[in-house]
Amino acid sequence: MELHILEHRLKVASIAKESIQLFTYGLIKLAFLSSKTRCKFFSLTETPEDYTIIVDEEGFLELPSSEHLSVADATWLALNVVSGGGSFSSSQPIGVTKIAKSVIAPLADQNISVFMLSTYQTDFILVRERDLPFVMHTLATEFTILRVVNGETVAADNLGITNGFVKPKLVQRPVIHPLSSPSNMFCVTSLDPDTLPTVATLLMDVMFYSNGVKDSVVGSEDSGHIRFFSFSLIEGYISLVMDVQTQQRFPNNLLFTSASGELWKMVRIGGQPLGFDECGIVAQISEPLAAADIPAYYISTFKFDHALVSSLVALLGYWGDGTFPHCVGE
Ligand code: ARG
Repeated sequence: MELHILEHRLKVASIAKESIQLFTYGLIKLAFLSSKTRCKFFSLTETPEDYTIIVDEEGFLELPSSEHLSVADATWLALNVVSGGGSFSSSQPIGVTKIAKSVIAPLADQNISVFMLSTYQTDFILVRERDLPFVMHTLATEFTILRVVNGETVAADNLGITNGFVKPKLVQRPVIHPLSSPSNMFCVTSLDPDTLPTVATLLMDVMFYSNGVKDSVVGSEDSGHIRFFSFSLIEGYISLVMDVQTQQRFPNNLLFTSASGELWKMVRIGGQPLGFDECGIVAQISEPLAAADIPAYYISTFKFDHALVSSLVALLGYWGDGTFPHCVGE
């Protein structure tokens, strides 16, 4: 299998809900008028806490520098596992479950912090640029590592680490952060970029103006619903993660869903904000899921992590070890 180190140099940032209006000029350009920018990697995720933006350096220039924008102090690179030829857009089994053993666990064993972004098309594993030599050394046995340079994949240079790490002991990785599960169900969808204009006003509404709708239409957070919406436009591919109530606002047959049209149950990870230094959080969640062959997506945001697990699994009360976190408000 191949591991691609993408060339985008990424910033991870947070915008407070009440400050979003300061940034909408740039965000609308990045999401809907991307040909007017040089941005190739953009994602925006709204949670109850904030808006998390993951954007390349080119796209970052579209946002005003402001005290209302908190930026994680590192540059991140995106890794992407490509199995059996073809680009990441080709159909392959989805989710963090697939990369838990080969990528997530080995990085956690070497104390390398990651930041996850699953999309409809693929799963991006973000690592800090400064950790790259360790990342490559850790994953070199499992993967052919290629770097993308000017859009071309080339063999990645050995970055000079030659002597092996101490092989980590088989550590137990208990789940140490509190988990909760909102009551709304989510879908992971995509959209033909050519049809983006037809839903642009709806998307703008959902992304920036739906706070008032929350309480009346889709229920408040007290009823166990949470606000969660993720839009990404990465190398020309659009991915949308939204709850069923939001999906119903879209015209029929416009959104692509996987053939099964599956719905996903969310598990939020974290009580206190998780920060960026702690390692092994994605691993604690994804390893037991992988061991039980449970498909899952995984989206990190500035403060918390979010796993999306097959709703069937959640209904069966199955969380690797046979339990499932209680729903908020239950
Ligand atoms: N760094 C964590 C890990 O290695 C995942 C990201 C958690 N932090 C966050 N802000 N979401 O597992």
